[in-house]
Amino acid sequence: MSSVAITRVGQLITNDPAVGDGKLGILTDAAIVLEDGLVAWVGPSRLVPNADESYSADGRALIPGFVDSHAHLMFAGDRSAEFAARMAGETYAAGGIRTTVSATRGATDKQLLDNLNRLSGEMLASGITTFETKSGYGLTVETEARCLEIASIVTPEVTYLGAHVVPAEFAGRADDYVELVCNEMLTAVSPFAKWIDVFCDRGAFDADQALQILRTGEAAGLLPRIHANQLEAGGGIEVAVACDAASADHCTHLTERDVELLAGSNTVATLLPGAEFSTRSPYPDARRLIDAGATVALATDCNPGSSYTTSMPFCIAVAVREMHLTPEQALWSATAGGAKALRRTDVGHLGIGARADFSILNAESHTHLSYRPGVNLIHQVWQSGQLVVGQ
Ligand code: NIG
Ligand code: FE
Repeated sequence: MSSVAITRVGQLITNDPAVGDGKLGILTDAAIVLEDGLVAWVGPSRLVPNADESYSADGRALIPGFVDSHAHLMFAGDRSAEFAARMAGETYAAGGIRTTVSATRGATDKQLLDNLNRLSGEMLASGITTFETKSGYGLTVETEARCLEIASIVTPEVTYLGAHVVPAEFAGRADDYVELVCNEMLTAVSPFAKWIDVFCDRGAFDADQALQILRTGEAAGLLPRIHANQLEAGGGIEVAVACDAASADHCTHLTERDVELLAGSNTVATLLPGAEFSTRSPYPDARRLIDAGATVALATDCNPGSSYTTSMPFCIAVAVREMHLTPEQALWSATAGGAKALRRTDVGHLGIGARADFSILNAESHTHLSYRPGVNLIHQVWQSGQLVVGQ
């Protein structure tokens, strides 16, 4: 059992108020000791216990690994033309998903896995050490199962999103497609998925369909989460809270009642700044959710249509500038908030016993993540106590 000490950390963010200041549990001139892939000790640098190996962070900031609780990495193809058309004035609609469905159905397993590895590698380089990924671009029994089986090779946080949109061959027969999603498709994907999700919005599925899909998934042992209120304030938040969904994602258009419901529930409001950025849509007001008492997470929503970014620092910068989170709130939401949205207690913080997942920044303070937008500040990434990015 070998231990590693990292000393002279200028600012150590633990997200554990028991060991440091404020909600972020901040220690200055600190050290961290890792053993067996876990955090064994944190405290002042001058008190660091002996370890087998020791490195100096030379005054840099050290933050918990980002937890990306919402991504769609199982796809093939490219929709840059759709993005360019939007930037020229077109509006975003759920129907664009079908373009990616055609490309995904035609892709081989190797192409899908290579794309997944490429994107998850980008995520890791941006400091994301835990990520969720969904299906939702197959929309046949065979392709949804194939996508989820491949996803389950690389992450335990795998989500069945057969109810992403009604595929073209079911046009005008949405109820028949819901039947397929709730029966044969669910049976085929259940061995590979932990979560079930539905896109409850204009042009996708309504609240009744969403409730039916999530309840049926739960009966099969999957845990509910939902895409809600991206395009309009529909009934998605009520569905989320009624199912005790771990997370309601997007939350772009919320009524006062939606905000109250989220604040009084265990459902995290996951905000996806990349989606508003890339669809040129109005941003949700994150401060309003936090002031009401809701728990907020930030995630990339990486997908080829509405948010083709794997950069959590980018999402943090946009959330601070456009959604009115403070830098502290944004960092907490991208780490501890993401962990809550996945109902994980082992990641998203650096308290004793947590998984030793963290990044060392080329900056003295975490505030630089939004203060220096677009600059790669990731000096090193450590995952389960091993250095995996940087030297
Ligand atoms: O989360 N909102 C639904 N699904 C994705 C977009 C998918 C697409 O346009 O391909 C999202 O933004
Ligand atoms: Fe999404």
